[in-house]
Amino acid sequence: MISESFKQDLLSRIDIVELIDTRVPLKKAGANMSACCPFHSEKTPSFTVSPSKQFYHCFGCGAHGNAITFLMEYGGLGYIEALRELADQCGMKLPEMDRTQNAGTASDGPRISDLTELMARAMTWYREQLKRSPKAIEYLKRRGLDGKTAARFGVGYAPEGWQSLQGAFTHYDDPALVECGLVIVNDESRRYDRFRDRIMFPILNARSQVIGFGGRVIDGGEPKYLNSPETPLFEKGRELYGLPQAREALRSQDRIFVVEGYMDVVALAQHGVANVVATLGTATTPIHLTKLLRQVNEIVFCFDGDRAGRKAAWHALEISLAAVPDGKMIRFLFLPPEDDPDTYVRAHGAAGFNEAAAKSMPLSRYLASSLAERHGADSAEGRSALLAEARPLVQSMKAPLLQMQLLRELAALGQMGAEELALAYGLSAPRGAGRPVALRAAEGAAPRGNFAGKPNYSAKSNYPNKSDYPGKPGAGWSRRNDSAAQWRSGTAQRFADQTRPANDRRLERQMLRALLSAPELAADVPVELISEQSPEGLALHALIQFLNDLPQAGSAAIAEHFRDSTHESLLNRAQADLMGLDLGKDGVRAELEGAIFQMRLKAVDAELKAIYALSSLSDEERERERALRTLAAELRTALRNSGGADERGPDGV
Ligand code: GTP
Ligand code: MN
Repeated sequence: MISESFKQDLLSRIDIVELIDTRVPLKKAGANMSACCPFHSEKTPSFTVSPSKQFYHCFGCGAHGNAITFLMEYGGLGYIEALRELADQCGMKLPEMDRTQNAGTASDGPRISDLTELMARAMTWYREQLKRSPKAIEYLKRRGLDGKTAARFGVGYAPEGWQSLQGAFTHYDDPALVECGLVIVNDESRRYDRFRDRIMFPILNARSQVIGFGGRVIDGGEPKYLNSPETPLFEKGRELYGLPQAREALRSQDRIFVVEGYMDVVALAQHGVANVVATLGTATTPIHLTKLLRQVNEIVFCFDGDRAGRKAAWHALEISLAAVPDGKMIRFLFLPPEDDPDTYVRAHGAAGFNEAAAKSMPLSRYLASSLAERHGADSAEGRSALLAEARPLVQSMKAPLLQMQLLRELAALGQMGAEELALAYGLSAPRGAGRPVALRAAEGAAPRGNFAGKPNYSAKSNYPNKSDYPGKPGAGWSRRNDSAAQWRSGTAQRFADQTRPANDRRLERQMLRALLSAPELAADVPVELISEQSPEGLALHALIQFLNDLPQAGSAAIAEHFRDSTHESLLNRAQADLMGLDLGKDGVRAELEGAIFQMRLKAVDAELKAIYALSSLSDEERERERALRTLAAELRTALRNSGGADERGPDGV
């Protein structure tokens, strides 16, 4: 919605040190600035701000980000709001966005700020009306709501009558009242109040502006709740009821409860469980989750014990699986069927509620137990149905470690091996997934000699080119269908497999780190050697592509580009490592260089191993083997010269 270039421009004009310093006074600490972390309580400063990277990181709690992130997390602003605030600060104007276009600057409608003003006035007025309505006060008393909590949540009352809001607004026919959902126009162009004779719950955005209302009937009647329609201010799938009120509690607590109802939030808050929000009569969305996981590490869904509540919980599970990154915790708290959070906390108090929360189920257990319950795990049919239902859920996951853990649990439940299940789900890397590395080396991926003072390895001198060399491991082999060739192919692949894993990922992580520190080195990375299977490899590919387009990008710009992407957490981790290491430019260059040489060497070794595994060699294969050996030797020398250690000699050379 807002262009990349605008965001990058904005970030380049902001000084994060200045921005943070006015809110959290910073002290100089070497090249960086530091303070006690505003995101967790601590006595010695581990919150670090880097002026050169325009990035902050806390070594205590892991909070990190650029100027935009800081405003979101510290100021509790939404993304757009944070952008707007930064833009204001440096005199830039935020481009109008889709959502606001119909209420935009043009002559055809009111501006957003006009609408929020109307909503604020409505809230004030509804609150005044509450004081004048014995019936409404009596209702709230009966439900046990105290005055302090009612005030904290701005609870009000919309009186009976079709046009009561005339008492609040002098221009009742202002089209803006319709636009913000307070007034409805019927077919005969007659105007009337949307909310009549209802208890009013204002819905606030992160800046504590009123963007909508939920209105509850007092005497029974339909519908029980009437919510504001979607308006330029209010998009249900993005907003959470009670979030601004919960913010203070979240400073000291790393967990938030997500409940269904307005009254649940209000009652829990009144009883001292203030870290709570509600979805607004809609199902949980990925946006809700992302928003919450930025502020806390643990979400506890607590839906009603009835069937609708269970359905909502299952939906939340589906969304969570696809959205949760490793390191975050999602739990499910099921209350007895006759209770909802409101009644439960009234009966058992905050202590009772927290005790129940301590016994809540982690997402993984909820998944496994409900599948087992639904299908039964005591017959082959039940187990296979269970595993079939889990399949798309597991496949949707983005958290590699949690996915692996879940696979294990499901496999145990289904009485099969975790690897078998991974294979059945199409999750394990296909045989020979490491092959692209070896294969690509065979296609001429010799070091390009980009680093000053290093020998210039020429691809052509050492490598027969692709078409001259039919005997390379890979496509050419597996397409032949005589059995000897197949055996060879299998062997080659098996060996190639062994060279792929963790080690390469470590190198890829080093490369990520290096590029974040010295983006100008992106052109030196041999992309063809980087895995397209590992998360690190994929992040590297994406980062390099981004840096090709925007070579000037710094850490803050990179963080912005990858916000909410699958690569975000890896890049952030790399950034955090970097802030801890302080390698310096030369150190970074050396690290990258070493990683590249090692990666090439691995590719060459892998192919050599594959060749050695063959029972007999053709002439081409012999020639190839010689070329590879020369290259391997050269790479080892280069590695020694660059100070990088060669970890593993090739066997049998
Ligand atoms: P009470 O305790 O009965 O006052 O309500 P609650 O806050 O516990 O709500 P409940 O659990 O009945 O419903 C959960 C949420 O779903 C509510 O807070 C509303 O956002 C929404 N909701 C409930 N009933 C309706 C309805 O009739 N229409 C609409 N649009 N939303 C509803
Ligand atoms: Mn209720």
